[in-house]
Order: sequence, then structure tokens, then C-alpha cells
Amino acid sequence: MRKENRVTRWICWIVVVTALFFLGFTIGWFARPQHHSPENNGRFDEHLKEFLNEMQSDQIREHLRKFTRLPHLAGTEQNLKYAEQIKTEWQEFGLDSVEMVPYDVLLSYPNKTQPNYISIVDPHGNEVFNTSLAEPVPEGYEGVSDIVPPYNAFSAKGQPEGDLVYVNYGRTEDFFQLEQEMKINATGKIVIVRYGKIFRGNKVKNAVLAGAKGIIMFTDPADYWATGVKPYPDGWNLPGGGAQRGNVLNLNGAGDPLTPGYPAKEYAHRLSPDQGVGLPRIPVHPIGFHDAVRLLENMGGPTPPNNWKGALNVSYRIGPGFAGDFTSQKVRMNIHTNNQVTRIYNVIGRIRGALEPDRYVILGGHRDAWVFGGIDPMSGAAVVHEIVRSAGRLLSKGWRPRRTIIFASWDAEEFGLLGSTEWAEDNAKLLQDRAVAYINADSAIEGMYTLRVDCTPSLHTLVYDITKQIASPEQGEELSLYDSWHRRDNWTNDRDAPRISKLGSGSDFEAYFIRLGIASGRARYTKNQRTEKYSSYPLYHSVYETFEAVERFYDPSFRRLRAVAQVRGGLIFHLSDSQLLPLDVVEYADALGKYAWSISQLAQQHRDAMETYGVSFNSLFSAVENFTVAARGLHERLQTLNTADSLQVRVMNDQLMYLERAFIDPLGLPGRPFYRHVIFAPSSHNKYAGESFPGIYDALFDIKNSAEPHKSWEEVKRQISVAAFTVHAAAMTLMPPA
Ligand SMILES: *[C@@H]1O[C@H](CO)[C@@H](O)[C@H](O)[C@H]1NC(C)=O
Ligand SMILES: *[C@@H]1O[C@H](CO)[C@@H](O)[C@H](O)[C@H]1NC(C)=O
Ligand SMILES: *[C@@H]1O[C@H](CO)[C@@H](O)[C@H](O)[C@H]1NC(C)=O
Ligand SMILES: *[C@@H]1O[C@H](CO)[C@@H](O)[C@H](O)[C@H]1NC(C)=O
Ligand SMILES: *[C@@H]1O[C@H](CO)[C@@H](O)[C@H](O)[C@H]1NC(C)=O
Ligand SMILES: *[C@@H]1O[C@H](CO)[C@@H](O)[C@H](O)[C@H]1NC(C)=O
Ligand SMILES: [Zn+2]
Repeated sequence: MRKENRVTRWICWIVVVTALFFLGFTIGWFARPQHHSPENNGRFDEHLKEFLNEMQSDQIREHLRKFTRLPHLAGTEQNLKYAEQIKTEWQEFGLDSVEMVPYDVLLSYPNKTQPNYISIVDPHGNEVFNTSLAEPVPEGYEGVSDIVPPYNAFSAKGQPEGDLVYVNYGRTEDFFQLEQEMKINATGKIVIVRYGKIFRGNKVKNAVLAGAKGIIMFTDPADYWATGVKPYPDGWNLPGGGAQRGNVLNLNGAGDPLTPGYPAKEYAHRLSPDQGVGLPRIPVHPIGFHDAVRLLENMGGPTPPNNWKGALNVSYRIGPGFAGDFTSQKVRMNIHTNNQVTRIYNVIGRIRGALEPDRYVILGGHRDAWVFGGIDPMSGAAVVHEIVRSAGRLLSKGWRPRRTIIFASWDAEEFGLLGSTEWAEDNAKLLQDRAVAYINADSAIEGMYTLRVDCTPSLHTLVYDITKQIASPEQGEELSLYDSWHRRDNWTNDRDAPRISKLGSGSDFEAYFIRLGIASGRARYTKNQRTEKYSSYPLYHSVYETFEAVERFYDPSFRRLRAVAQVRGGLIFHLSDSQLLPLDVVEYADALGKYAWSISQLAQQHRDAMETYGVSFNSLFSAVENFTVAARGLHERLQTLNTADSLQVRVMNDQLMYLERAFIDPLGLPGRPFYRHVIFAPSSHNKYAGESFPGIYDALFDIKNSAEPHKSWEEVKRQISVAAFTVHAAAMTLMPPA
């Protein structure tokens, strides 16, 4: 080979390599992220904007109109029809797959030929007063059949007769006061309590523990009337003939009462109906305040403390029984409700993830309603429908999220979160390995004031970021949703930001968050919690929860529902399409610090006993300190992560995803095997409320009256050690892998 030839060839090689280098560099330059956020590729923000802008108020109005024309109680033909319609429309919107997933679960219905009611009985056994059998039907719905009358699902059957005892809200503290201060014994009596403050199932449990043979729950205007507002249809207050339906189970997360722990499939083994989990042993019935006045007005016994008095024109005497001319009259409950294994249907839709199809982000909300479900749940279901439609539009333009998105229309939520819990049981192994987050989508509006968010601490930062990108729905307000929310509900405790609360329960996120340890959150529009004293919204679970109630009073422009759609949709979008999971572990560390401090303060009320029994929170504080150090370390590693290294990204994302899982104790909380999250559980005294460090909290509860203080304080010590271990173990999952 000649020398010149070799030199020429060398030069050629150098030119080619140099050219390729510059070509590669140029491609790399233009393909580079357009901004410095390490998380997202350049088109992320564009797609997000398109996704949020696609959601329209008028569309949400149409969805709500369509799905609230007829009653659609779980287990009925009409609720199956709506399921089929949702399936068809989700397919048309462009989801990759949509399926119906049935289960056979225990439901409960009144007997159609033998109605439930309560009477006042004279000494000859004549029923001289009967409570109403149904609510007056609202205008425009007169011809509608299949409106189930007010009842409490899963009530025991029976016709107990006896004297009434009034016990305020039926809370743990109300029964303490009745028994310990007023010295009134409710054994063998029929208890009457007002709705509000706590989950109705807890009231029933308390009545059973007190020995009552029946319980009546009524709606008091003090709790369900906003001042200056007219009753429906002229306003959004509950008419005197209206009543709140609702289940009275104490499931503690079990789902279907007959198949705890396992999905209610055809081959499932079922407990016998009388062994079912959480079923009350006594009759329970709800009434409106017109009927309540008749039961309360002749009561005798002591006059109540002021905080036991509602807004009815009666004395709210405690009883037992009636006074004066009426002492010989008794109250009789006539309850003929039947429990019945019934088929229910979840609708499950999917968008397959482009890069990480084995990572799931779930948006789920229920479809079944007590009657029309204008607010609960269809305001939420209409929002989900619009999110699915919007995602479908983006898909048709070539977008596909990095991770898989699962949309769920749950059935039988009103009967104890049954559809969502059975599906969680059915898919537990997949979910514990692959689920990134669960966003709940029950009622999207319960007031006209501002946003309300309850979520796991690691989602705080994402919620704040998202709401800064969404416009306030309030008329004439040129603000972001974040600013509007901040002005109305400032989290004044220790930071200058809008309030975000802990998750409790009472909706379908329960099995995902508290049993499986999947990061979860919920968002809706709410009332002003500082000035409006009523418990849930006044029309809650009544026949008056119509489309018109939303359209006339709650959200005439449907802009509030659109804002909620953008928050829920925005969460799903970020969680499914961000390269790095938008979960903030430092926020979790902060929250743990506050919860540990606050539970230790609670124990400090018993300083002497703590000294006597050698109780210390040092191990828990040490664990929280370790968690804080580990969280900061992970946060710093995230800043310097080479996001071009997809294996490194996946390693980091797995640490973020599995953090919530690390708080699960496989043994569960004492007596509540399906509540397994060591940091959060529904309060043992009110399922709606969230409790932090629930194991320690319950061990400390009423400890000053313990018959065996030594044993009780040993349990406190055991619970502190479980919490300390769990928090430390979670900290270790945040450390560098090696
Ligand atoms: C409903 O009540 C009727 C009596 O009015 C009774 O014959 C029937 O068996 C009851 N149905 C159920 C399912 O219990
Ligand atoms: C209450 O209902 C029972 C059973 O239908 C009936 O016999 C009684 O007359 C009713 N009482 C009143 C006051 O309507
Ligand atoms: C309440 O009454 C029942 C039955 O009359 C009795 O067995 C029970 O001991 C009483 N409870 C208290 C605290 O007095
Ligand atoms: C309250 O009830 C009493 C006795 O039943 C009655 O005399 C009075 O007029 C009632 N007050 C109102 C404001 O309805
Ligand atoms: C929220 O409260 C903090 C502390 O009280 C205060 O400094 C801040 O201005 C408030 N922010 C808003 C938006 O009201
Ligand atoms: C916290 O970490 C330190 C240092 O590794 C360790 O000694 C301590 O036991 C940890 N605390 C807990 C509660 O595990
Ligand atoms: Zn609901």
C-alpha cells in the first residue's frame, strides 16, 4: 500500500468521524430538553396544557345531565345500564381497552311490600304516629319509579319496642357523658341521635356497645341548614321531609362483608350471612326533622347541656322515655330490610404506558348512587368522564403517557366501598408491585367556596405546583386556583400555603392507601369550613341530590367542576408522564416530624404514668430523624441524577414509588387487620377522619380510666416500638441502594 494512499484514507476517516460527531452533536442539541427541568422532556408542558385546555364546562354539564336522569342504586338494572354506557363511551373516546369486572357481594335493600317505619305506640298497642314512608319527590321526577325510600343499608331486621334515649351525635364522648355524668343506662333502650360530626356506622357501633336495642338517626337543622338558605327546590337546604340514606357497617376496610381479604368471585368461599364482617346486630333507621320533632317533643328526663341542643323547637330532653301524659307510650321500630348477595360491576379502562407499561397510575371513583346522585357521586363521575375524553383526544394526536393509566368506575361504594375493595383484593399482587399512585374521584363539589385536598404528604408539592397552573373558577377573579384557594383557606399552622389535610376514609381510596400502601389523594370543591357549621352538605344522600341542585346552586357555570377536573386530571397526567415521579419525600419527613411531636404531646398529659411505666418516645424521634436525613439525601441525589441513564431513573423512581409501601405493617393495626398503614388510619371513633400514628393513638385513648394501667401502658410502649421500627425501615428504603 502506498504512503499517500494511507494518508488520504486517514484524512477521509478524520473528516467522516468529525462530521458524524457534529451531526450527532447537532441532533443532540435540538433534541435537548427545552428548559432545565430535569424531569420532563420538552413536549411535556405542551401536552399538559393541551390536556387541561381540552376539558370543557359544557361537556361536564352534559355528562352530569346524562347520568343523573334515573336512580341507579348498586345492584340494579339501571346501574348496569350506566356501566355499559360508560364502557361504550370510554371506548369511543379512544382508551386502549375497557372491560366490565363483576363481583357478587352482599348488598341490602328494604322490602318493597313491607315498608320500614317507626311508630309511637299507645298502651293498647295502637300505632298512633308513624314516620313517613318516603320523601316527597322533587318536581320533574314525579313519574320516576325505583326511588328507594330512606333506609340504613345492612340494618338488622326487627321490631324492637321501648323508651327513647337521646344521645346527641352518638359519638364516643357523647356516650361517655351519658353514662358517666348523667348516669343514664341505654341498655334495652332505643337510642335516638342526630346525624353529623362522625360516620354513621360509628354511631351504630357505639349504640350497640351501650346495649341499645335499636337506633334512630335524624337530620337536625342545626347541622344541615345553612343560614339564609331555603330548602330545596328554592335553595340547597334539606327539606323537613328529606332524610339521609347510608350504610351502617363497621367493616374496617374488609370490603364485601362475606369475603374479607379475597375477591367476591363466583368460586369465592362466603361466610354465612349472619357471620358477615361489620353487620350491626340491631335495627337502624334514618328520619328527617319533621318526623324527629314528633319523636322528641314529648320526651322526659334531664334537660341536656347546651351543646346537645339542636335547632328544633323541642327541649332535647335525654329520656329515657316520654314525660307527663305520654309516659305510657313507647316507640316501635319496624324494620324489614334484607341482606342479599348481588352482582355488581366495575368498569376498568386503560391507556397502555409507552415506556413503563408495568407502572400504574389509577383514577377511580364510584358510579352507584342512593338515588339520582347529582352530587354524590355523579359530579365526580362526570369529571372523570371528561378527563377520559380529554386523554382520548391527546392519544388521537399521537401522545402516549410514559406509564399506564387505569380509569375505574366503581360499583357499590355506598354499601361499604365494595367494588373498589374487591378489585384491590383481586389485583393486590400486581398493585403492590406496580401501582405508583391512586387518585380518588368521588363527589367533585360539596360547597361553593374553595378547593379541598386530602392526600399523602409526598403529593403536597405536586398539588401546589398543579394548582398554580390552573385558573380560579371564581367569577371575576384573575387568579390562579392556588392563589384563590390560599386566600380562602390559609394553612396558618406553620406555613404560608393553602391547607391540605390527611386522608381519612369513607371513599374508594381506602383499600389502595390504607391496605396496600399506594400514594393517594383526593380533591374537590368545598364549603367554608370556618363559617358553615353543617356536617356534610345538606342534601347529602337524599332524593334532592339532582342535576338541578348542581346546576342551580352549586356550579351554574360548571367552572368549579372544570377546575376540579383539571386538578384530578393534572395529577394523573404528571404522575403518568413525568420522567421522574413527582413525589416529595422531604414533605413526608416534615409530616412525620409533626405527627410524632403531636402524639408525644398527647401522651405528655399523663406525665406521671409515663414515668411510672417507663414510656419514652425517643425511639420514634430517632427514627423520624433517620428518615429526615435519608429523605434529604435522596432529594439531593435526585438533583444530580443523570436523567439520560434510564436505569438510574428507574432505580430512583422505584425508591419513590415504594416509599408509601414501606409504611405497611403486614400484621395490621390491633383488631383491624385490613388497616395496615402505620402512619395513617381512619379514626376508630370516626371513619371519616384520618388519625396519624393510629396504633399509638388508640393505645392512649381513655387510658386514664383503664382498669389495668400496667397492661395498657405496655401496649402503648409496644405501639411506639412498632412505629419507630416502621419509620426507620422506611428510611432505609430511601438510602443509596449500595
Ligand atoms: C317482604 O315482605 C313480605 C310480606 O309483606 C314477605 O312475604 C316477603 O317474604 C318479604 N320479602 C323478603 C325478601 O323477605
Ligand atoms: C301506622 O301504620 C300502621 C300499619 O300500617 C297502621 O295500622 C296505623 O293505623 C298507622 N297509624 C297511623 C297514625 O297512621
Ligand atoms: C345497665 O342495665 C343493664 C340491664 O338492666 C345492666 O345489666 C347493666 O349492668 C347496667 N349498666 C350499668 C353501667 O349500670
Ligand atoms: C315551640 O313549641 C311550643 C310548644 O309546643 C309552641 O307553643 C311554640 O309556639 C313553638 N315555637 C315556635 C317558634 O314554633
Ligand atoms: C397566610 O397566613 C400567613 C401567616 O399568618 C400570612 O403571613 C400570609 O399572609 C397569609 N397568606 C394569605 C394568602 O392570606
Ligand atoms: C437511627 O439511626 C442510627 C444510626 O444508624 C441508629 O443507631 C438508630 O438505631 C436508628 N434509629 C432507629 C429507631 O432505628
Ligand atoms: Zn360517594
